[in-house]
Amino acid sequence: MATNRTFTMIKPDAVENGHAGAILDQIIKGGFKVIALKYLHITEAQAKAFYAVHAERPFYGELVEFMTSGPIYAAILEKDNAVADFRTLIGATNPAEAAEGTIRKNFAENIGRNAVHGSDSDENAQIEGSFYFSAIEQF
Ligand code: RTP
Ligand code: MG
Repeated sequence: MATNRTFTMIKPDAVENGHAGAILDQIIKGGFKVIALKYLHITEAQAKAFYAVHAERPFYGELVEFMTSGPIYAAILEKDNAVADFRTLIGATNPAEAAEGTIRKNFAENIGRNAVHGSDSDENAQIEGSFYFSAIEQF
């Protein structure tokens, strides 16, 4: 498959626990090129907008509260088959079910505080990357 892009966030739990450097290292060693990267603390309105697709889910309020609880790293990543390969690298949403050696197995606390985000489709990778990065930051 041709080289393409995905979007990730290193979530507040992982930043707070001092795992951001190790996670970025695992991402880069996993063959992903970091195309864009920023460190920021999102507002409640921004978290609600980013996760609008989950607005009806029972965990939405908890998710918004968690994602605004501290700073995150947001990044656009490039690799062949980026979206699927990155979800393999991070492992299952619930770290208790994540495969050995995956980022969530290594660094996540539980299903809510699960260390990283990974886009679930090429279309969402584009939408999510553009939520955080302007056109001139994505080259
Ligand atoms: P992500 O979007 O963060 O990469 O995670 P995902 O695709 O594996 O999971 P998704 O279904 O999109 O859920 C988004 C995030 O919501 C939180 N969550 N909490 N308490 C719960 O049952 C629950 N379920 C999901 C997680 O932080 C999940 O990553
Ligand atoms: Mg998701």
